[in-house]
Amino acid sequence: MPPYLYISGLSRYDGSTMKKIALTGIKPTGDPHIANYLGSIKPALALAGEYDARYFIADYHALNTMKDPRELAACIRKVAAGWLAGGLDPEKVIFYRQSSIPETFELASLLMAFTSKGLMNRAHAYKAAVQDNAERGADPDAGVNMGLFTYPVLMAADIILFDADIVPVGQDQVQHIEMAQDIAQAVNFNYKQELFKLPQAAVQEQVAVVPGLDGRKMSKSYGNTIPLFASEAMLLKTIKRMVTDSQPVEAPKDPETSQIFLLYKLFATKDEQTALAARYRGGGMGWGEAKEELFRVINRELAPLRERYNAIMADLAGLDRILARGAEKARPIAAATVARFRKAAGIDW
Ligand code: TRP
Repeated sequence: MPPYLYISGLSRYDGSTMKKIALTGIKPTGDPHIANYLGSIKPALALAGEYDARYFIADYHALNTMKDPRELAACIRKVAAGWLAGGLDPEKVIFYRQSSIPETFELASLLMAFTSKGLMNRAHAYKAAVQDNAERGADPDAGVNMGLFTYPVLMAADIILFDADIVPVGQDQVQHIEMAQDIAQAVNFNYKQELFKLPQAAVQEQVAVVPGLDGRKMSKSYGNTIPLFASEAMLLKTIKRMVTDSQPVEAPKDPETSQIFLLYKLFATKDEQTALAARYRGGGMGWGEAKEELFRVINRELAPLRERYNAIMADLAGLDRILARGAEKARPIAAATVARFRKAAGIDW
């Protein structure tokens, strides 16, 4: 895709800087864990400053799979508190809930008219569900709701609404950003104007795979995660559950094949890594001790986050105020985009 700059139209930058806009959505579907922190929270927050950054909790996307109201409400708050604890500064960025921006849903409906069904048929998540059903001999669309089928349209609305230049996401979301691009382009083409920016996915260089408790990649779906905001005691207990082989304490161990060491590397300084690797190789260090070292470095990094997280969760009204203020900042931007579209479409009165 060629570089594409939106130049005409309203300035939405309070007059001064013309930073590029980075936007990402966070689906609140589980308790934040260490792989979320390393793989998405930290890298996405690193863009704030260089970019005019916008982060939102994609609660309507979560609704496709989460039907328990209490669970969803709790999850939204935990995930929001997690990002704030991780360093998101709501004064410097825009941070809001998708559900507080009704323009999102208006734009999603408008975009439906420009989205071919065939495009949606090709979406990975939908295709995977259909294939899964085929393998089980079930009806192809069993368990597929329209929210899942049209997921990329809602996501395109999230992105287009806020004029995003770049969208930091994991590899699994790249197709969705390309679809948002296709949809924006279809609209621009039809109205013969650069109504919408064409967003680009910003996939960060592969962060090392974060090993989970059982040695597989850490993932909520494997149930092998280390929670980000567990108490110190719970963190230690969870780390102690990491699966190891049965080499005796005396045996020299290879750090590079140890999941405990791989995780250690993601939190330790270079010097610490070198020193501990030597102890692994020298023998005389058992897995119990290796886990305690791992706990020490993880806890060192997470302790301040945990403290902030607990403080935020102890003041939910304060958290809700932060999100409400974010929505107040976000809505005029969203309204301007929808107004632009309506005008172009001939339905602006
Ligand atoms: N689909 C994304 C995920 O599952 C979440 C999301 C929703 C999103 N809307 C977005 C990400 C817009 C980037 C931009 O992780």
